[in-house]
Amino acid sequence: MTDFLSVRDISADDFSTIVDLAIEIKRDPAPWSDKLKGKTLGMIFQKTSTRTRFSFEAGMTQLGGHAIFAQAQHTQIGIADMTDEGKVISRYVDLIMARMVANRDLVALAEGSEVPVINGCDERYHPAQALTDLVTIKEALGRTEDIKIVYVGIANNVSNSLSMASVYSKARFVLCVPEFDPPAVDEEQLDILQASGRYEQIDDLAAAMKDADVVYTDTWINMEYFDDPVFAEEKKRRIKTFKPYQVNEALLKLSGRRTLVMHCLPAHKGYEVNKTVLYHPDSVVFDQAENRLHAQKALMLWLLGEC
Ligand code: CP
Ligand code: NVA
Repeated sequence: MTDFLSVRDISADDFSTIVDLAIEIKRDPAPWSDKLKGKTLGMIFQKTSTRTRFSFEAGMTQLGGHAIFAQAQHTQIGIADMTDEGKVISRYVDLIMARMVANRDLVALAEGSEVPVINGCDERYHPAQALTDLVTIKEALGRTEDIKIVYVGIANNVSNSLSMASVYSKARFVLCVPEFDPPAVDEEQLDILQASGRYEQIDDLAAAMKDADVVYTDTWINMEYFDDPVFAEEKKRRIKTFKPYQVNEALLKLSGRRTLVMHCLPAHKGYEVNKTVLYHPDSVVFDQAENRLHAQKALMLWLLGEC
């Protein structure tokens, strides 16, 4: 049984198999329409979501299965032992997808679960997003090998998963950030990335952006803190610190070539990306969002051994 709590839970070959399956399912969904008949996905959310919730739920329906949505606050998860709850839920369902705040809670849930668990985005990783991202790049550019992917803004859960997924896909990944989101620091993964020869951290924006095939950014403040009054001062500080890293027309020009714009969404226009660039002809953000659906279907089929 394999979990997908981080990209590193599966091999590079398996990652690439799932990317290709997602592209195949997008092209021709019909043969897969009853592959998960009678199967149930349990979805647990401690945080809000649009894309992750809709794409997993619709994906399960399109594969002939069923999804149960539970907002964690309306379950006993807050008062019960996380590992026990994982064990119990797994006795009812075939697969679990959980969006928890703390990575340690997700790990505890997965420890108890007797079925595969997918990370739906915690403070450290967002692997299902990274899968979609590589699907989108392969779809748009025809390959992932040697594609230069530049991530600007704050190093966080999204960049952690994207960097590993990029290296798995033989792309080149450049991180251009002034800071890491503290809970997302993963020294063990950084060592692996650095040893790959496909990962660089470059401080200078112009040098980082040169010849970029893809520029990717994400919110400077994670969803659970965005409107939290306790985080208000830190939010102000981050806006000031990260403003020079906004993806806008001037930053795009630094690449000297056509550069795809990517963002996992939701975007905060005027902060990490401006409106013109978000809706630029080279922006693939809405295809990227759509691809969550095809990628989740491929991931669920693969984890359940149905492909
Ligand atoms: N990109 C992403 O995970 O979106 P949601 O937060 O809406 O699920
Ligand atoms: N870094 C963002 C990703 C949103 C999908 C967050 O955690 O809110």
